[in-house]
Amino acid sequence: MTDMTVNKLSEHVGKEVVIKGWLYNKRSKGKIHFLLVRDGTGIVQCVMSKGAVPDDMFELGDKITQESSLIVTGKVRKDDRAQGGYELELSKVELIQMAKDYPIALQEHGPDFLLNNRHLWLRSRKQHAIMRVRHATIKAIRDFFDSRDFVLIDAPIFTPAACEGTSTLFEVKYFDDKAYLTQSGQLYGEAAAMAHRKIYVFGPTFRAEKSKTRRHLTEFWMVEPEIAFIDLDGIMDLAEEFVEYIVGFVLETRKEELKVLERDLSKLECVKRPFPRMTYDEALEAVNKAGAKMNRGEDFGAPQEAALGAMSDRPVMVHRWPAEIKAFYMKRDPKNPNLALGVDMIAPDGYGEIIGGAQREDDLDTMLKRIKENNLPQEAFEWYLDLRRYGTVPHGGFGLGVERTVAWLCGIEHLRETIPFPRMLYRIYP
Ligand code: 4AD
Ligand code: MG
Repeated sequence: MTDMTVNKLSEHVGKEVVIKGWLYNKRSKGKIHFLLVRDGTGIVQCVMSKGAVPDDMFELGDKITQESSLIVTGKVRKDDRAQGGYELELSKVELIQMAKDYPIALQEHGPDFLLNNRHLWLRSRKQHAIMRVRHATIKAIRDFFDSRDFVLIDAPIFTPAACEGTSTLFEVKYFDDKAYLTQSGQLYGEAAAMAHRKIYVFGPTFRAEKSKTRRHLTEFWMVEPEIAFIDLDGIMDLAEEFVEYIVGFVLETRKEELKVLERDLSKLECVKRPFPRMTYDEALEAVNKAGAKMNRGEDFGAPQEAALGAMSDRPVMVHRWPAEIKAFYMKRDPKNPNLALGVDMIAPDGYGEIIGGAQREDDLDTMLKRIKENNLPQEAFEWYLDLRRYGTVPHGGFGLGVERTVAWLCGIEHLRETIPFPRMLYRIYP
Protein backbone atom coordinates (compact mmCIF):
# COMPACT_ATOMS: atom_id res chain seq x y z
CA MET A 1 0.00 0.00 0.00
CA THR A 2 1.38 3.39 -1.00
CA ASP A 3 0.66 6.76 0.56
CA MET A 4 0.79 9.19 -2.32
CA THR A 5 -0.73 12.09 -4.25
CA VAL A 6 -3.20 12.50 -7.12
CA ASN A 7 -0.61 13.74 -9.60
CA LYS A 8 1.22 10.39 -9.28
CA LEU A 9 -1.77 8.10 -9.86
CA SER A 10 -0.66 7.10 -13.36
CA GLU A 11 2.32 5.26 -11.85
CA HIS A 12 0.08 3.09 -9.68
CA VAL A 13 -2.62 1.66 -11.94
CA GLY A 14 -4.08 -1.53 -10.47
CA LYS A 15 -2.58 -0.86 -7.04
CA GLU A 16 -4.19 0.23 -3.79
CA VAL A 17 -3.31 3.76 -2.69
CA VAL A 18 -4.10 6.16 0.15
CA ILE A 19 -4.99 9.77 -0.67
CA LYS A 20 -5.28 12.52 1.95
CA GLY A 21 -7.32 15.55 1.00
CA TRP A 22 -10.62 17.36 0.95
CA LEU A 23 -14.00 16.67 -0.60
CA TYR A 24 -14.32 18.91 -3.64
CA ASN A 25 -17.76 17.76 -4.80
CA LYS A 26 -19.92 14.67 -4.88
CA ARG A 27 -22.91 13.11 -6.59
CA SER A 28 -24.79 9.93 -5.98
CA LYS A 29 -26.53 7.50 -8.28
CA GLY A 30 -28.46 4.63 -6.75
CA LYS A 31 -26.06 2.53 -4.77
CA ILE A 32 -22.97 4.49 -5.80
CA HIS A 33 -21.41 7.70 -4.45
CA PHE A 34 -18.97 9.57 -6.65
CA LEU A 35 -16.66 11.59 -4.41
CA LEU A 36 -14.43 14.15 -6.07
CA VAL A 37 -11.40 14.39 -3.81
CA ARG A 38 -8.75 17.10 -4.18
CA ASP A 39 -5.39 16.77 -2.46
CA GLY A 40 -3.65 19.95 -3.61
CA THR A 41 -1.91 18.23 -6.51
CA GLY A 42 -5.09 17.38 -8.42
CA ILE A 43 -8.64 16.09 -8.24
CA VAL A 44 -9.62 12.44 -8.48
CA GLN A 45 -13.04 10.84 -8.76
CA CYS A 46 -13.54 8.15 -6.11
CA VAL A 47 -16.22 5.57 -6.68
CA MET A 48 -17.86 4.21 -3.55
CA SER A 49 -20.20 1.29 -4.11
CA LYS A 50 -22.58 -0.06 -1.52
CA GLY A 51 -21.26 -3.43 -0.46
CA ALA A 52 -17.65 -2.63 -1.37
CA VAL A 53 -17.29 -0.63 1.88
CA PRO A 54 -18.80 -1.21 5.33
CA ASP A 55 -22.34 0.23 5.67
CA ASP A 56 -21.33 3.02 8.08
CA MET A 57 -18.75 4.21 5.56
CA PHE A 58 -21.32 4.19 2.80
CA GLU A 59 -23.55 6.35 5.03
CA LEU A 60 -20.64 8.73 5.51
CA GLY A 61 -20.68 9.09 1.73
CA ASP A 62 -24.24 10.36 2.08
CA LYS A 63 -23.45 12.86 4.79
CA ILE A 64 -20.00 14.16 3.94
CA THR A 65 -19.95 17.85 2.99
CA GLN A 66 -17.92 20.00 0.62
CA GLU A 67 -14.36 20.70 1.90
CA SER A 68 -14.50 18.12 4.69
CA SER A 69 -11.02 16.67 5.19
CA LEU A 70 -10.65 12.95 4.68
CA ILE A 71 -8.40 10.00 3.91
CA VAL A 72 -9.49 7.60 1.19
CA THR A 73 -8.09 4.18 0.29
CA GLY A 74 -8.78 2.54 -3.03
CA LYS A 75 -7.53 0.86 -6.15
CA VAL A 76 -6.37 3.00 -9.10
CA ARG A 77 -8.22 2.43 -12.35
CA LYS A 78 -7.51 4.02 -15.69
CA ASP A 79 -10.64 5.64 -17.04
CA ASP A 80 -10.47 8.05 -19.94
CA ARG A 81 -13.86 9.55 -19.04
CA ALA A 82 -12.67 10.54 -15.53
CA GLN A 83 -11.18 13.94 -14.88
CA GLY A 84 -7.40 13.44 -14.96
CA GLY A 85 -7.79 10.04 -16.62
CA TYR A 86 -7.84 7.89 -13.45
CA GLU A 87 -10.30 7.03 -10.74
CA LEU A 88 -10.25 5.23 -7.42
CA GLU A 89 -12.39 2.27 -6.49
CA LEU A 90 -12.80 2.94 -2.79
CA SER A 91 -12.41 0.34 -0.07
CA LYS A 92 -12.16 2.75 2.85
CA VAL A 93 -13.00 6.36 3.79
CA GLU A 94 -11.87 8.02 7.02
CA LEU A 95 -13.19 11.41 8.00
CA ILE A 96 -10.73 13.87 9.55
CA GLN A 97 -13.16 16.74 10.00
CA MET A 98 -16.67 17.41 8.77
CA ALA A 99 -16.76 20.95 7.32
CA LYS A 100 -19.94 22.79 8.23
CA ASP A 101 -21.53 25.25 5.78
CA TYR A 102 -18.53 25.90 3.54
CA PRO A 103 -19.31 29.36 2.19
CA ILE A 104 -18.13 28.94 -1.40
CA ALA A 105 -20.53 26.82 -3.37
CA LEU A 106 -19.40 25.51 -6.74
CA GLN A 107 -21.87 27.85 -8.47
CA GLU A 108 -21.19 31.47 -9.33
CA HIS A 109 -20.51 34.11 -6.67
CA GLY A 110 -19.88 37.83 -6.99
CA PRO A 111 -16.27 39.11 -6.90
CA ASP A 112 -16.63 40.89 -3.53
CA PHE A 113 -17.90 37.77 -1.84
CA LEU A 114 -15.10 35.71 -3.35
CA LEU A 115 -12.44 38.26 -2.40
CA ASN A 116 -13.72 38.35 1.19
CA ASN A 117 -13.24 34.60 1.17
CA ARG A 118 -9.95 34.65 -0.70
CA HIS A 119 -8.39 32.34 1.92
CA LEU A 120 -10.92 29.67 0.85
CA TRP A 121 -11.35 30.74 -2.78
CA LEU A 122 -7.71 29.69 -3.37
CA ARG A 123 -8.93 26.08 -3.18
CA SER A 124 -11.13 26.42 -6.27
CA ARG A 125 -10.02 24.78 -9.47
CA LYS A 126 -9.47 27.91 -11.47
CA GLN A 127 -7.65 29.75 -8.68
CA HIS A 128 -5.52 26.65 -8.08
CA ALA A 129 -4.55 26.69 -11.77
CA ILE A 130 -3.71 30.41 -11.75
CA MET A 131 -1.37 30.07 -8.75
CA ARG A 132 0.49 27.29 -10.52
CA VAL A 133 0.91 29.41 -13.62
CA ARG A 134 2.19 32.17 -11.36
CA HIS A 135 4.72 29.84 -9.77
CA ALA A 136 5.92 28.69 -13.21
CA THR A 137 6.23 32.32 -14.32
CA ILE A 138 8.40 33.13 -11.32
CA LYS A 139 10.52 30.04 -11.86
CA ALA A 140 11.00 30.98 -15.51
CA ILE A 141 12.05 34.50 -14.46
CA ARG A 142 14.67 33.18 -12.04
CA ASP A 143 15.95 30.47 -14.37
CA PHE A 144 16.28 32.94 -17.24
CA PHE A 145 18.49 35.36 -15.34
CA ASP A 146 20.35 32.78 -13.25
CA SER A 147 21.44 30.92 -16.38
CA ARG A 148 22.71 34.13 -17.99
CA ASP A 149 25.09 35.26 -15.22
CA PHE A 150 22.78 37.84 -13.67
CA VAL A 151 23.28 38.25 -9.91
CA LEU A 152 20.16 38.49 -7.71
CA ILE A 153 20.20 41.69 -5.63
CA ASP A 154 17.57 42.42 -3.01
CA ALA A 155 16.57 46.07 -2.88
CA PRO A 156 15.16 47.63 0.29
CA ILE A 157 11.41 48.03 0.88
CA PHE A 158 11.76 51.17 3.07
CA THR A 159 13.17 53.94 0.89
CA PRO A 160 13.96 57.61 1.36
CA ALA A 161 12.70 58.82 -2.04
CA ALA A 162 10.47 58.26 -5.07
CA CYS A 163 11.53 56.35 -8.17
CA GLU A 164 8.34 56.44 -10.24
CA GLY A 165 6.74 59.78 -9.41
CA THR A 166 5.68 61.28 -6.11
CA SER A 167 1.93 60.89 -6.64
CA THR A 168 1.80 57.17 -5.87
CA LEU A 169 4.05 57.01 -2.80
CA PHE A 170 2.99 55.18 0.34
CA GLU A 171 4.38 57.13 3.25
CA VAL A 172 5.11 55.27 6.47
CA LYS A 173 6.28 56.45 9.87
CA TYR A 174 9.92 55.53 10.36
CA PHE A 175 10.68 56.20 14.03
CA ASP A 176 10.83 59.99 14.28
CA ASP A 177 11.17 60.34 10.54
CA LYS A 178 9.22 59.19 7.49
CA ALA A 179 9.97 56.72 4.74
CA TYR A 180 8.25 55.42 1.62
CA LEU A 181 7.48 51.88 0.54
CA THR A 182 9.50 51.13 -2.57
CA GLN A 183 7.87 51.78 -5.96
CA SER A 184 10.72 50.05 -7.80
CA GLY A 185 14.10 48.62 -6.91
CA GLN A 186 15.66 50.15 -10.00
CA LEU A 187 17.85 52.84 -8.44
CA TYR A 188 19.44 50.23 -6.15
CA GLY A 189 19.71 47.91 -9.12
CA GLU A 190 21.74 50.56 -10.92
CA ALA A 191 24.20 50.70 -8.01
CA ALA A 192 24.51 46.92 -8.03
CA ALA A 193 25.02 46.81 -11.82
CA MET A 194 28.12 48.98 -11.35
CA ALA A 195 29.39 46.32 -8.94
CA HIS A 196 28.31 43.14 -10.78
CA ARG A 197 27.63 44.21 -14.38
CA LYS A 198 24.39 42.21 -14.77
CA ILE A 199 21.91 41.98 -11.90
CA TYR A 200 18.22 41.54 -11.23
CA VAL A 201 16.08 42.82 -8.42
CA PHE A 202 12.97 40.77 -7.65
CA GLY A 203 10.46 41.63 -5.01
CA PRO A 204 7.22 43.30 -4.01
CA THR A 205 6.69 46.94 -4.94
CA PHE A 206 4.06 49.39 -3.78
CA ARG A 207 2.09 52.14 -5.44
CA ALA A 208 -0.71 54.19 -3.94
CA GLU A 209 -2.83 53.84 -7.08
CA LYS A 210 -5.88 55.88 -6.32
CA SER A 211 -7.83 54.81 -9.37
CA LYS A 212 -9.82 51.61 -9.32
CA THR A 213 -8.81 49.70 -12.45
CA ARG A 214 -8.48 46.08 -13.48
CA ARG A 215 -4.77 46.55 -14.11
CA HIS A 216 -3.55 48.17 -10.90
CA LEU A 217 -2.72 46.68 -7.56
CA THR A 218 -1.25 48.68 -4.67
CA GLU A 219 1.18 45.82 -3.93
CA PHE A 220 2.62 43.88 -6.86
CA TRP A 221 5.72 41.92 -7.75
CA MET A 222 8.25 43.21 -10.21
CA VAL A 223 11.46 41.76 -11.61
CA GLU A 224 13.99 44.34 -12.70
CA PRO A 225 17.16 43.42 -14.59
CA GLU A 226 19.81 46.14 -14.81
CA ILE A 227 22.88 45.93 -17.02
CA ALA A 228 26.07 47.96 -17.34
CA PHE A 229 27.21 48.74 -20.90
CA ILE A 230 23.91 48.38 -22.70
CA ASP A 231 21.85 50.71 -24.89
CA LEU A 232 18.14 50.88 -25.67
CA ASP A 233 18.37 48.35 -28.53
CA GLY A 234 20.15 45.91 -26.24
CA ILE A 235 17.46 46.39 -23.60
CA MET A 236 14.73 45.62 -26.14
CA ASP A 237 16.62 42.52 -27.35
CA LEU A 238 16.82 41.24 -23.79
CA ALA A 239 13.17 42.03 -23.05
CA GLU A 240 11.86 40.07 -26.02
CA GLU A 241 14.14 37.10 -25.38
CA PHE A 242 12.96 37.11 -21.75
CA VAL A 243 9.24 37.23 -22.55
CA GLU A 244 9.57 34.55 -25.22
CA TYR A 245 11.30 32.35 -22.64
CA ILE A 246 8.62 32.84 -19.96
CA VAL A 247 5.80 32.03 -22.38
CA GLY A 248 7.62 28.94 -23.65
CA PHE A 249 8.33 27.67 -20.14
CA VAL A 250 4.75 28.14 -18.96
CA LEU A 251 3.39 26.42 -22.08
CA GLU A 252 5.75 23.53 -21.50
CA THR A 253 5.12 23.05 -17.80
CA ARG A 254 1.56 24.27 -17.17
CA LYS A 255 -0.49 23.10 -20.13
CA GLU A 256 -3.04 21.30 -17.92
CA GLU A 257 -3.62 24.44 -15.87
CA LEU A 258 -4.01 26.58 -19.00
CA LYS A 259 -6.62 24.10 -20.21
CA VAL A 260 -8.52 24.41 -16.92
CA LEU A 261 -8.47 28.17 -17.54
CA GLU A 262 -9.73 27.58 -21.09
CA ARG A 263 -6.84 29.61 -22.44
CA ASP A 264 -6.52 29.59 -26.21
CA LEU A 265 -3.00 28.10 -26.43
CA SER A 266 -2.49 29.25 -30.02
CA LYS A 267 -2.43 32.83 -28.66
CA LEU A 268 0.66 31.95 -26.63
CA GLU A 269 2.35 29.54 -29.02
CA CYS A 270 2.87 32.33 -31.55
CA VAL A 271 4.82 34.49 -29.08
CA LYS A 272 8.21 34.25 -30.81
CA ARG A 273 10.92 36.77 -31.52
CA PRO A 274 11.19 39.25 -33.12
CA PHE A 275 8.44 41.38 -31.57
CA PRO A 276 7.33 44.46 -33.51
CA ARG A 277 9.07 47.69 -32.45
CA MET A 278 7.72 51.17 -33.10
CA THR A 279 8.43 54.64 -31.84
CA TYR A 280 5.88 56.46 -29.72
CA ASP A 281 5.10 58.71 -32.68
CA GLU A 282 4.51 55.74 -34.97
CA ALA A 283 2.31 54.11 -32.31
CA LEU A 284 0.40 57.36 -31.84
CA GLU A 285 -0.38 57.52 -35.53
CA ALA A 286 -1.37 53.86 -35.62
CA VAL A 287 -3.79 54.01 -32.67
CA ASN A 288 -5.41 57.18 -34.00
CA LYS A 289 -5.84 55.51 -37.37
CA ALA A 290 -7.41 52.52 -35.58
CA GLY A 291 -9.95 54.84 -33.96
CA ALA A 292 -8.51 54.93 -30.41
CA LYS A 293 -7.99 58.70 -30.51
CA MET A 294 -5.37 60.38 -28.34
CA ASN A 295 -3.16 63.47 -28.45
CA ARG A 296 0.60 63.60 -28.57
CA GLY A 297 2.04 63.84 -25.07
CA GLU A 298 -0.56 61.56 -23.52
CA ASP A 299 0.17 58.10 -22.20
CA PHE A 300 -1.69 55.14 -23.69
CA GLY A 301 -4.89 54.25 -21.89
CA ALA A 302 -6.83 51.00 -22.09
CA PRO A 303 -8.39 51.75 -25.54
CA GLN A 304 -4.97 52.58 -27.06
CA GLU A 305 -3.35 49.52 -25.48
CA ALA A 306 -6.17 47.41 -26.92
CA ALA A 307 -5.62 48.95 -30.35
CA LEU A 308 -1.86 48.35 -30.15
CA GLY A 309 -2.43 44.83 -28.87
CA ALA A 310 -4.66 44.10 -31.84
CA MET A 311 -1.94 45.03 -34.33
CA SER A 312 0.11 41.92 -33.81
CA ASP A 313 -0.20 38.41 -32.41
CA ARG A 314 2.88 39.09 -30.27
CA PRO A 315 3.78 41.81 -27.78
CA VAL A 316 4.64 45.21 -29.26
CA MET A 317 7.51 47.39 -28.03
CA VAL A 318 6.96 51.15 -28.10
CA HIS A 319 10.13 53.21 -27.68
CA ARG A 320 11.30 56.85 -27.69
CA TRP A 321 8.65 58.64 -25.66
CA PRO A 322 7.94 62.34 -25.12
CA ALA A 323 10.31 63.02 -22.24
CA GLU A 324 7.75 64.97 -20.19
CA ILE A 325 5.61 61.88 -19.57
CA LYS A 326 8.47 59.61 -18.57
CA ALA A 327 10.55 59.27 -15.39
CA PHE A 328 13.39 61.65 -14.49
CA TYR A 329 16.13 59.03 -14.83
CA MET A 330 15.65 58.25 -18.53
CA LYS A 331 18.36 59.27 -20.95
CA ARG A 332 17.34 61.57 -23.80
CA ASP A 333 17.71 60.55 -27.40
CA PRO A 334 20.92 62.21 -28.69
CA LYS A 335 19.10 62.73 -32.03
CA ASN A 336 16.15 64.47 -30.38
CA PRO A 337 16.45 65.70 -26.78
CA ASN A 338 12.65 65.91 -26.45
CA LEU A 339 12.47 62.13 -26.56
CA ALA A 340 13.31 59.78 -23.68
CA LEU A 341 15.02 56.47 -24.45
CA GLY A 342 12.29 54.49 -22.74
CA VAL A 343 10.43 51.39 -23.89
CA ASP A 344 7.09 49.87 -22.94
CA MET A 345 6.09 46.37 -23.96
CA ILE A 346 2.37 45.99 -24.62
CA ALA A 347 0.86 42.48 -24.53
CA PRO A 348 -1.53 41.37 -27.29
CA ASP A 349 -5.33 41.24 -26.98
CA GLY A 350 -5.68 44.20 -24.64
CA TYR A 351 -3.73 42.75 -21.69
CA GLY A 352 -1.81 46.02 -21.60
CA GLU A 353 1.68 47.09 -20.55
CA ILE A 354 3.72 44.27 -19.05
CA ILE A 355 7.17 45.90 -19.20
CA GLY A 356 8.51 49.41 -18.69
CA GLY A 357 12.19 50.10 -19.15
CA ALA A 358 14.84 52.55 -20.32
CA GLN A 359 18.40 53.46 -20.94
CA ARG A 360 19.40 55.61 -17.93
CA GLU A 361 20.83 59.10 -17.90
CA ASP A 362 24.51 58.57 -17.17
CA ASP A 363 25.81 62.16 -17.11
CA LEU A 364 26.14 63.83 -13.70
CA ASP A 365 25.20 67.38 -14.69
CA THR A 366 22.21 66.27 -16.75
CA MET A 367 20.98 64.06 -13.90
CA LEU A 368 21.30 66.98 -11.46
CA LYS A 369 19.22 69.08 -13.84
CA ARG A 370 16.53 66.37 -14.11
CA ILE A 371 16.28 66.02 -10.34
CA LYS A 372 15.76 69.79 -10.05
CA GLU A 373 13.24 69.92 -12.92
CA ASN A 374 11.21 67.19 -11.24
CA ASN A 375 11.32 68.94 -7.84
CA LEU A 376 12.92 65.90 -6.25
CA PRO A 377 14.92 66.36 -3.02
CA GLN A 378 18.58 66.26 -4.10
CA GLU A 379 19.82 65.18 -0.63
CA ALA A 380 17.88 61.93 -0.93
CA PHE A 381 19.56 61.23 -4.28
CA GLU A 382 23.20 62.04 -3.42
CA TRP A 383 24.12 58.36 -3.28
CA TYR A 384 22.47 57.88 -6.71
CA LEU A 385 24.41 60.82 -8.11
CA ASP A 386 27.61 59.13 -6.88
CA LEU A 387 26.99 56.44 -9.52
CA ARG A 388 27.50 59.23 -12.11
CA ARG A 389 30.48 60.67 -10.21
CA TYR A 390 32.50 57.48 -9.95
CA GLY A 391 32.94 55.58 -13.20
CA THR A 392 29.65 56.28 -14.95
CA VAL A 393 28.85 54.07 -17.98
CA PRO A 394 25.90 53.63 -20.35
CA HIS A 395 23.42 51.32 -18.65
CA GLY A 396 19.77 50.42 -18.41
CA GLY A 397 17.17 47.79 -17.74
CA PHE A 398 13.48 47.21 -17.36
CA GLY A 399 10.78 46.06 -14.97
CA LEU A 400 8.28 43.30 -15.73
CA GLY A 401 5.12 43.15 -13.64
CA VAL A 402 4.45 39.57 -12.53
CA GLU A 403 0.68 39.98 -12.12
CA ARG A 404 0.19 41.66 -15.51
CA THR A 405 2.16 38.84 -17.11
CA VAL A 406 0.21 36.12 -15.30
CA ALA A 407 -3.10 37.77 -16.27
CA TRP A 408 -2.06 37.68 -19.91
CA LEU A 409 -0.77 34.10 -19.76
CA CYS A 410 -3.95 32.89 -18.05
CA GLY A 411 -6.25 35.04 -20.15
CA ILE A 412 -7.96 36.65 -17.18
CA GLU A 413 -9.43 40.11 -17.04
CA HIS A 414 -8.52 41.34 -13.59
CA LEU A 415 -5.20 41.37 -11.74
CA ARG A 416 -6.91 40.52 -8.44
CA GLU A 417 -6.91 36.81 -9.30
CA THR A 418 -3.21 36.66 -10.20
CA ILE A 419 -1.77 37.18 -6.69
CA PRO A 420 -2.64 35.07 -3.64
CA PHE A 421 -3.92 37.97 -1.51
CA PRO A 422 -4.55 41.08 -3.63
CA ARG A 423 -4.11 44.57 -2.23
CA MET A 424 -6.18 47.25 -3.92
CA LEU A 425 -7.65 50.67 -3.25
CA TYR A 426 -10.55 49.30 -1.20
CA ARG A 427 -9.14 45.95 -0.14
CA ILE A 428 -6.67 44.89 2.51
CA TYR A 429 -8.63 41.88 3.92
CA PRO A 430 -8.02 38.97 4.34
O1 4AD B 1 6.58 51.02 -16.00
P1 4AD B 1 6.95 50.94 -14.55
O2 4AD B 1 6.40 51.97 -13.64
O3 4AD B 1 8.53 50.94 -14.53
C1 4AD B 1 9.33 50.96 -13.43
O4 4AD B 1 8.96 50.88 -12.29
C2 4AD B 1 10.80 50.98 -13.74
N1 4AD B 1 11.53 51.55 -12.60
C3 4AD B 1 11.26 49.59 -14.07
C4 4AD B 1 12.72 49.53 -14.45
O5 4AD B 1 13.10 50.04 -15.46
N2 4AD B 1 13.54 48.87 -13.65
O6 4AD B 1 6.53 49.51 -13.97
C5 4AD B 1 7.03 48.35 -14.58
C6 4AD B 1 5.93 47.31 -14.72
C7 4AD B 1 4.77 47.74 -15.61
O7 4AD B 1 5.05 47.56 -16.96
C8 4AD B 1 3.67 46.82 -15.12
O8 4AD B 1 3.83 45.54 -15.68
C9 4AD B 1 3.96 46.73 -13.65
O9 4AD B 1 5.33 47.05 -13.46
N3 4AD B 1 3.12 47.65 -12.86
C10 4AD B 1 2.06 47.28 -12.13
N4 4AD B 1 1.48 46.08 -11.94
C11 4AD B 1 0.41 46.01 -11.13
N5 4AD B 1 -0.12 47.07 -10.49
C12 4AD B 1 0.43 48.30 -10.64
N6 4AD B 1 -0.08 49.32 -9.97
C13 4AD B 1 1.57 48.44 -11.50
N7 4AD B 1 2.35 49.48 -11.87
C14 4AD B 1 3.28 48.98 -12.69
MG1 MG C 1 5.18 52.02 -17.18
